[in-house]
Amino acid sequence: MVEDYPPEKAYRLLEPGPVVLLSTQGTSQDEQRPYLMTIGFHMVIQHDPPLLGAIIGPWDYSYAALKKTKECVLAIPTVDLIEKVVDIGNCSGEGIDKFDKFELTPLKASVVGAPLVKECMANFECKVEDTKMVSKYNMWVLKVVRGWLDVEKRDWKAFHHRGDGTFVCDGDIVNLQERMTKWKEYQG
Ligand SMILES: Cc1cc2nc3c(=O)[nH]c(=O)nc-3n(C[C@H](O)[C@H](O)[C@H](O)COP(=O)(O)O)c2cc1C
Repeated sequence: MVEDYPPEKAYRLLEPGPVVLLSTQGTSQDEQRPYLMTIGFHMVIQHDPPLLGAIIGPWDYSYAALKKTKECVLAIPTVDLIEKVVDIGNCSGEGIDKFDKFELTPLKASVVGAPLVKECMANFECKVEDTKMVSKYNMWVLKVVRGWLDVEKRDWKAFHHRGDGTFVCDGDIVNLQERMTKWKEYQG
């Protein structure tokens, strides 16, 4: 069962830096299909409005669709998908539909044209907020406009790229909320 997830809490799932999938939607006459790529370089920028930064460069086939539509979905996969996610990040979407190839299910999003990835734990619909750093750093500032959490997968483990083709999978959750005395407003 999937339920509404508040965009302003997207940082809670993204702050630890899991490897994510980014979907975009091709809009040109001959390519009205979705694209999918893997991203390890992303960051939380701001709580309200919820802003994220992600590196997507012209070396990615998805780049043109993001540039044109100014919309995307960031999806958080869990460890059961780790091999597919790595393979998605090691091939181009030119001439292939990666949803088909990797047997993932595109779901219609609510606000953006790019599809959600059904198999992922969480999906964040994003609109491009600021492109000032794209020319210099390929850094896109994205605003989360809608979030979705598969509550049955909430405690499944995400995974993190160590930058060299090795990955760390999430371990135990340690609750230190009582020590977080300065940040009570973010614990509700
Ligand atoms: C673990 C992993 C992390 C990656 N992180 C990024 C990233 O942060 N930014 C980026 O532009 N490409 C990243 N890539 C590479 C893209 O996913 C890759 O270029 C992919 O082929 C792009 O798909 P596309 O050409 O269909 O758009 C990563 C790949 C892997 C396997």
